[in-house]
Amino acid sequence: MTRIRKAVFPVAGLGTRFLPATKSVTKEMLPLIDRPLIQYAVDEARAAGIDEFIFITSTGQSALEAYFGRNSGLERKLKDGGKTTLLNRLRRTNLEDETYSFIQQNSPRGLGHAVSLTRDLVGDEPFAVILPDDVIHAKRAVLAQMAQSFEGSHMIATEAVHSDRISAYGVVDIEHRAGRVQHLRGLVEKPSVDQAPSEFGIVGRYLLHPSIFDQLEGLAPGAGNEIQLTDAIAADIEGPGCHGFAFQGERFDCGSVAGYLEATTVFALERAELRDGFKTMLRQRMNLLSTAA
Ligand code: G1P
Repeated sequence: MTRIRKAVFPVAGLGTRFLPATKSVTKEMLPLIDRPLIQYAVDEARAAGIDEFIFITSTGQSALEAYFGRNSGLERKLKDGGKTTLLNRLRRTNLEDETYSFIQQNSPRGLGHAVSLTRDLVGDEPFAVILPDDVIHAKRAVLAQMAQSFEGSHMIATEAVHSDRISAYGVVDIEHRAGRVQHLRGLVEKPSVDQAPSEFGIVGRYLLHPSIFDQLEGLAPGAGNEIQLTDAIAADIEGPGCHGFAFQGERFDCGSVAGYLEATTVFALERAELRDGFKTMLRQRMNLLSTAA
């Protein structure tokens, strides 16, 4: 098992489906219950043993930078008020200065372009990429599940996707499977339904060999006229190769309003202090709906 120390979080997307909320904050700062999406991503990385965090932002994302810094005034107030639980919850969001960095992607040229900007910070070692708007509900952090099977080739999380959604994803071409690990002979970004090589779509969790940076250099734009990470991985199949990983867990597309609502419901039902009241409320709402129908 190869230790992964660094994770890259692309957070430069416009989040247009959440406008006007995303007018002044990035969508990764939207809360799922009481934690922003980015916190779930950072917690998942930590659960896989990662302790260095690289955020790729667009300009004007000071909310994100403020979030990971220390808010001494608020900490003091909570401490003076004896609010220890809240204080501890707040302190968990502070990242130590030397453990995180921000890189700016000034023009939206795609996920591959965003990742290519981190070359100097990542260096010559395997690293993780997490897309925070893919939120995964799992007993064991998906990145930790993947890290256990990671042997140096690129590895990407996959899940079965309904055919009417498949062309919104990167799709893997599977040669053979061994348990959850899929040996791939190719990957295609956003194929048409009839061109999709399998029903398995790429979910936003990647463990990458550093050779990806050579592939990204000079890569031509692909689907949507963007530099695609999927294309760089596909070009590296003859190099370190690539495995898909059909993870255990349920993924929600929190970049869409419907996915975000569903995730909110599932995560609220999971929380011991919210579960009973929330269940009662949902039942009452469902009853109202069925009597209105
Ligand atoms: C990106 C990737 C795609 C992947 C998807 C998962 O696409 O390019 O391969 O399936 O994330 O969320 P995007 O959703 O940014 O268009």
